[in-house]
This record gives sequence, structure tokens and C-alpha cells, in this order.
Amino acid sequence: MTTPLNRQIVLARRPTGAPRQDDFMLIESPPPRPGDGQILCRTIYLSLDPYMRGRMSEGRSYAKAVDIGQVMVGGTVSEVMESRHPSFKPGDVVLGYDGWQGWAVSTGAGVRTLDPTQAPIGMALGVLGMPGLTAYVGLLDIGRPRAGETVVVSAASGAVGSVVGQIAKLKGCRAVGIAGSEEKCRFVVDTLGFDACVNHRSGDLVGALRLACPSGIDVYFENVGGAVLDAVLRLVNPGARIPLCGLVSQYNATEPVRGPDLRPVLVNRVTIRGFIVSDHSDRQADFLTEMTRWVREGRVRYREDVVEGLEQAPRALIGLLDGRNFGKVIVRVGPEPARR
Ligand SMILES: NC(=O)c1ccc[n+]([C@@H]2O[C@H](COP(=O)([O-])OP(=O)(O)OC[C@H]3O[C@@H](n4cnc5c(N)ncnc54)[C@H](OP(=O)(O)O)[C@@H]3O)[C@@H](O)[C@H]2O)c1
Repeated sequence: MTTPLNRQIVLARRPTGAPRQDDFMLIESPPPRPGDGQILCRTIYLSLDPYMRGRMSEGRSYAKAVDIGQVMVGGTVSEVMESRHPSFKPGDVVLGYDGWQGWAVSTGAGVRTLDPTQAPIGMALGVLGMPGLTAYVGLLDIGRPRAGETVVVSAASGAVGSVVGQIAKLKGCRAVGIAGSEEKCRFVVDTLGFDACVNHRSGDLVGALRLACPSGIDVYFENVGGAVLDAVLRLVNPGARIPLCGLVSQYNATEPVRGPDLRPVLVNRVTIRGFIVSDHSDRQADFLTEMTRWVREGRVRYREDVVEGLEQAPRALIGLLDGRNFGKVIVRVGPEPARR
């Protein structure tokens, strides 16, 4: 079989502050060949996620940084083109972690075969994948919402936040989103079914949140940090829970970030708990069963922001870190296989 050249995007240098286009480099090389026990995969979709900013820098984190010259990491949906592995055959569509490139070989470790008749395959990178599991575990296991409580989530139109608010509604809670534009807020209320959504760029965030949360805040699912967290803390109820999922407003920071006023945490006996989704794979089976049903029944809706072409990935990641995406960002690297 002849395969075209492998296009890869590698880390060219470590960014200072917001990443720039020339922190990345597109290179081409002959495609890899699978050895015994390996598969050759053609990338169809690449997931872009905020954690990738962390991988571009060195420093203490829960995962190792990408080396200079190394292919950027990332979740992928791919077609198996050649297999020398007993569990995979050509034509299989698989969820893997091949990174920012058109072709990759893998040993099959951590690779899962998808059933394209069950759900659109790109969903395995979003609502039925890592961001969906993050919302499920963070809200249900850490936030522990009870019916009638008020759940607030930031980055509410995004991959994680959109699912958090919809699960909160399914559990009988009042769901209030925080998002970065009027258009995003309308989508969160009109399409996703949240009870209210507040634009964090529109001035008096505390006042707007107070109106949207007349009974205070019982669970705050934290995705952004900074000024938004500061505002939410002024409205927390006694015994509130804060699953600390992400702090995207700080990922490009070059100076130490000023922390929020923590007095309301003390006074109200608030629990703040950070979590990393990869520690919760024991919840994967429950998550997939429930979320697949909710999506199929139309009880969880989902928006993708599809970017065309691997070469657009740097621009799209830069935009994601600045709120320019609208929904789960995936890059279409190659065509979906024709259905047989
Ligand atoms: N703990 C874990 O294991 C885990 C796993 C997955 C994701 N996460 C975290 O979950 C969060 C959401 O991830 P996602 O994949 O769902 O991304 P996303 O919400 O689809 O996209 C990121 C969003 O963050 C918001 N944002 C960006 N810069 C901001 C700023 N300076 N201030 C306020 N908001 C800003 C923007 O939304 P607005 O325009 O609405 O502000 C942007 O659309 C991130 O913090 C991510 O790191 C954590």
C-alpha cells in the first residue's frame, strides 16, 4: 500500500504567555511502518483541549511536557489501515492518542474500537469521551448535586461545561452557566436548556449572578478561575462544593496569579476539590452507558466546533485559550471512511 507523506505538527519552541503560530512547526516525513503487534492508523479527527497549553511548558504538572521537536500530543479518532495486531483489522475506527499528525503506528495500548453505527465518531473526543467523563465524574462524584440545589458552571458552552449543566438539569437542579458572549449565553439557555446564563464579559458579574441564583450557589463547577471564581465565592451557600476542574483563564499567565478572597470558603465550610479525569477510569463504563443513552434520547445536546485541516490546529488552539471557540474543538485531519 502506498501512503502519502506524514504531516506532523511539532513543538518548535516553548511559548511565553499565549502561544503563537511560530511556536509550532509543520513537518513532513515518510509514514511510519507497523511492526509485529502494531497497527498503522490514519487520523480522521484530532481533539484540541486546553490541557495542551500545559504540555507546551516545562514545570511541575501531572503530565510530562512535550519535548521541543516532538509531535504535539492529543486524542484522535483514526482508521486502522494496516494491522499486525490480533485485536484490530483494517477498516476499524479507533479512539487513540496519536497526536497532531496524519499517520501513526501504535501498539494498541489504550486504543478502543468505536462502533460508527452507534454514534458519530467525532463524539468519542467530546461528549462521549474525555470531556464528557470529566463533566460526569466532576459533577456527580465530587459536586454531588441534590435536586433543588443551584449548580453554576463556567465555560458553559464548551466541551465540559455544556455537559455539566445538562446533567445538573437531569438531576433536578437549577443550572446556571457563565460564558463569554451573549451568543454563547443564548445557546446555553435556548438549546442546552440551562435556567440562566451570565456573560462574564458584560460588567457586573456578581450582580448578574445574584439575579440568576436567587437561592445562592450550592455547587460551582470551576473551569476558568480568576475573576469568575472571585465573583462566585461571594454567593456560595454553607456547605457548597467546588469541583476544581480547570483554570483556563490562567494557562497563558506570565506573572503569578492573585488568588481569590478565600474568606467565604472558610465561613461557609466550602469544599474545594481538584481532580484529574485520568484518575477516574473506573467510572468509564457507567459514564458511557448513561451518556450514550442521554445523547440518543436527546436529553444531552452537544455542539462541535470543527476546524478543517491539520495545518489549522495551532490557530485553533490559540483561539481556544482565548474563548474564540464555540463548542468542542476537533480538527478534521482526513475524511471519514465510507460506510460499508
Ligand atoms: N481536570 C481534568 O481532568 C480536566 C479534563 C478536561 C478539561 N479540563 C478543564 O476544563 C476546562 C474546560 O475545558 P473544555 O475542553 O471544555 O474547553 P472549552 O470550554 O470548550 O473551551 C475553553 C473555554 O474557556 C473559556 N475561557 C478561555 N479563556 C478564558 C478567560 N481568560 N476567562 C474566562 N474564560 C475563558 C472560553 O469560554 P467563554 O468564552 O465562555 O469564557 C473558552 O471557550 C478547562 O479549564 C480544562 O483545562 C480539566
